[in-house]
Amino acid sequence: MTATVSGLMAEIADTGRDDARGGYSRPVYSTAEQDLREWFSEQARRRGLDTGTDSNGIIWAWWDTPFGVRDDAVVTGSHLDSVPGGGAFDGPLGVASALAAVDLLRERGLTPAKPIALAVFPEEEGSRFGVACLGSRLLTGAIDPDKARNLRDPDGNTFADVAAAAGLDPRHVGPDPDALGRIGSFVELHVEQGRGLIDLDQSVGIGSSILGHGRWRLRVLGQGNHAGTTLMEDRHDPMVAAAGIVTAVRDCALRHPGARATVGRMVPVPGGTNVIASAVDLWLDVRHADDAVTAAVVEAIHAESLRVAAAEGCTVRLTEESLSPTVHFDPALRSRLGGLLPGAPVLDTGAGHDAGVLAAALPTAMLFVRNPTGVSHSPEEHVEDDDAEAGARALADVLQGLAGK
Ligand code: GLV
Ligand code: MN
Ligand code: MN
Ligand code: MN
Repeated sequence: MTATVSGLMAEIADTGRDDARGGYSRPVYSTAEQDLREWFSEQARRRGLDTGTDSNGIIWAWWDTPFGVRDDAVVTGSHLDSVPGGGAFDGPLGVASALAAVDLLRERGLTPAKPIALAVFPEEEGSRFGVACLGSRLLTGAIDPDKARNLRDPDGNTFADVAAAAGLDPRHVGPDPDALGRIGSFVELHVEQGRGLIDLDQSVGIGSSILGHGRWRLRVLGQGNHAGTTLMEDRHDPMVAAAGIVTAVRDCALRHPGARATVGRMVPVPGGTNVIASAVDLWLDVRHADDAVTAAVVEAIHAESLRVAAAEGCTVRLTEESLSPTVHFDPALRSRLGGLLPGAPVLDTGAGHDAGVLAAALPTAMLFVRNPTGVSHSPEEHVEDDDAEAGARALADVLQGLAGK
């Protein structure tokens, strides 16, 4: 039996629903994300794929060749974790499409000449531990394992403790040259997160590049005090400075065409209605196609933040949490995808993906499926059923072309 993408997506439609925020909240290694990982593993096992989790928490499901050699594999997959209050498709669409593509290839009678593997990466969003694509960064050595082990979630739990509770041995997270060495190419299918395919009136496109992007934390330090007894002129209120910094972030990005800069999360410390905060943490996300411009925007934001904070008698500390340079997908692999999907448009994206991290180690490519709202990281993200099935067919065509005889 051949599963449809929409049928598979319907099976997980209730997992991790967040009625308070809307959409889905599936932080890595939460009950919701673990349930999805179990669902995927069960789906893979049902298809006879040899399925297991590696030391970095990446699930691999293998469709071996008759010779059983795991070398030069064609790998596809995505992630099952989400941002808080995210859409249904960011991540799971690529996972469901991978399963559906296996069914389509079986239906076509394919005997792979190269092994095909499906992969599910943990903490792609960085929503829980702050560093996006943590699984693929650990796999490729793009993050120091000690730094990863010591990352903390908003409740103060370390990644090491959470990983251990999820059944991993945190001592063994880190670069895995054997796992990487088995992969010949990686193709990630993903819901498009902007309006590119809408404007082109196409259901499926091929990825060209990912904007360079990074995350920084700005800690604004002021003086905690009493909301009732402290005169307005006596205050060093970091919330007032933070408000000015948020506006400065927008203005600095506007001065650099093509730049995107966002403060999506801000936490006052200690956080009481009748308390002037002593500190405020702001998390900053900056992206641009030119890494030098990203650096210039961050520098401008830092300078502006120092100025705004000083005017309130506050100080600011800026810390880099992660940085990913602009990625251009492998030109040879991209042109093979172009040959396998004639007429498919080529487009870039401002969103980060595990395919972008893996691109430093091996040839990677992406397929995007139209999102009729053009909105993502929001419950409004959407994919029509026909487009989802077209995406799975395109992925099957690509896997067949890369792994078939
Ligand atoms: C993840 O989706 C990101 O681009 O932030
Ligand atoms: Mn994603
Ligand atoms: Mn995302
Ligand atoms: Mn992403």
